[in-house]
Amino acid sequence: MQQTTVFDLDLIQRYDKAGPRYTSYPTAVQFHEGFASKEYIEYAKNSNVDNAPLSLYFHIPFCDTVCFYCACNKVATKNHQLAVEYLQRLLKEIELQAALFDKQRPVTQLHWGGGTPTFLNLDEMWQLMDTTRQHFNLLDDDTGEYSIEIDPREADANTIKLLRELGFNRMSLGVQDFDPKVQKAVNRIQTEAETFAVLEAARKEGFRSISIDLIYGLPHQTQDSFKTTLDKVLQVEPERLSIFNYAHLPTLFKPQRRINETDLPTPAQKLDVLQMTINYLLDAGYVYIGMDHFAKPDDELAVAQRNGTLYRNFQGYATHADCDLVAMGSTSISKVGASYSQNVKTLEEYYARIDNNELAVFRGIALNEDDVLRREVITQLICHFGLSIPNIEKQFNIDFKQYFAQEWTELDKLQQDGLITYDDQMIEILPAGRLLVRNICMVFDIYLRQAKEQRFSKVI
Ligand SMILES: C[S@@+](CC[C@H](N)C(=O)[O-])C[C@H]1O[C@@H](n2cnc3c(N)ncnc32)[C@H](O)[C@@H]1O
Ligand code: SF4
Repeated sequence: MQQTTVFDLDLIQRYDKAGPRYTSYPTAVQFHEGFASKEYIEYAKNSNVDNAPLSLYFHIPFCDTVCFYCACNKVATKNHQLAVEYLQRLLKEIELQAALFDKQRPVTQLHWGGGTPTFLNLDEMWQLMDTTRQHFNLLDDDTGEYSIEIDPREADANTIKLLRELGFNRMSLGVQDFDPKVQKAVNRIQTEAETFAVLEAARKEGFRSISIDLIYGLPHQTQDSFKTTLDKVLQVEPERLSIFNYAHLPTLFKPQRRINETDLPTPAQKLDVLQMTINYLLDAGYVYIGMDHFAKPDDELAVAQRNGTLYRNFQGYATHADCDLVAMGSTSISKVGASYSQNVKTLEEYYARIDNNELAVFRGIALNEDDVLRREVITQLICHFGLSIPNIEKQFNIDFKQYFAQEWTELDKLQQDGLITYDDQMIEILPAGRLLVRNICMVFDIYLRQAKEQRFSKVI
């Protein structure tokens, strides 16, 4: 498979509209409270029949300080006692969840996210992994993808050493931007020295595929200033990079109100930054994996994409086959069998549920056959930039052109615009369509179509 990507400014401007990132299909908008703990338990128990491997996610919602751009689910505090109280419930939730799954199911993926997982002290991190190991079948041979999100301001060589001993072998480092003016405007002061010290410590301890997070579209950013950040980052040759798009939504995310809107780049300037970034990374030899992610061509993500064995879930891209994802902690989202479910969002609700010996699921969705089919189509497009039509027909026992008659006609427009080619055998996303993969997926999203039809019928 070819891994070429082209930045076509005209196409990107024309297709520039908000859309889901498809970390799940159906997306969280479709989750409802009719699916809660009782339904989740049913799906969890039934999943033991297939005996698929497990992926575990733990959400640690605390941060020492708040970055003004942040859209993650977190609580900014200096009070460590909050972590003590949270961990107590998280350990209890591990017990409650583990009781639903066969103990021998191997945990091929594990992820700590946040917030800032290293808000927990070393003892607490040890305790969390130890309790996990007591209740789940963790792999001890380093073959699992065990990853953690690290804020380099909140970790040192000792932390990294312990994390490696606990079994972690992957990490992502939050950087965002090295420009002092940008850092001041978003309240995230972070030196290159402290960042790269953590990265070097991680390499020394044997962490693989280290990823760096950057954000474009932050206040005061220009093409030149962001290029300087990229230069600094590329000097340490991270195996992977995530370049996130900053969306300014202050009504939704309170800390963003502290960003001065006049300091933000205009949409045109933002596109310039994106164009420079993509061309710069491609020239530097990185491969565009999709949805904000880049990797070196010999990194296992890039290799998996070439081989057609790339997967994607809430934690991003992965090389392990699709697992049942059991997510623990406030707000976290699980994917078990053909279902998604989400835990309650506030600490108060979370503590109340767990203290009552109950799971914390408050909403979710049971996928119907059409959802499962569309999810497969969307996942293949995102992971492989293409789709074999006979394979889908065989797998789901359908006539693709007939089933997706309306979508088939819409694909024509995408073909005319140079995003894809398609025929009876396959849909292939072309180099200029890769950065617009979500627009291509949106064609297959029945819920978007229904919402559009409803709006349309209201208008007329
Ligand atoms: C949970 S944070 C990472 C861990 C750690 N708290 C840190 O900041 O280093 C995950 C990543 O989400 C990204 N992020 C957070 N808010 C964002 C926003 N509004 N737009 C784009 N990316 C965002 C940042 O790149 C951040 O590194
Ligand atoms: S970016 Fe990371 S450290 Fe900053 S507020 Fe968000 S979760 Fe916390």
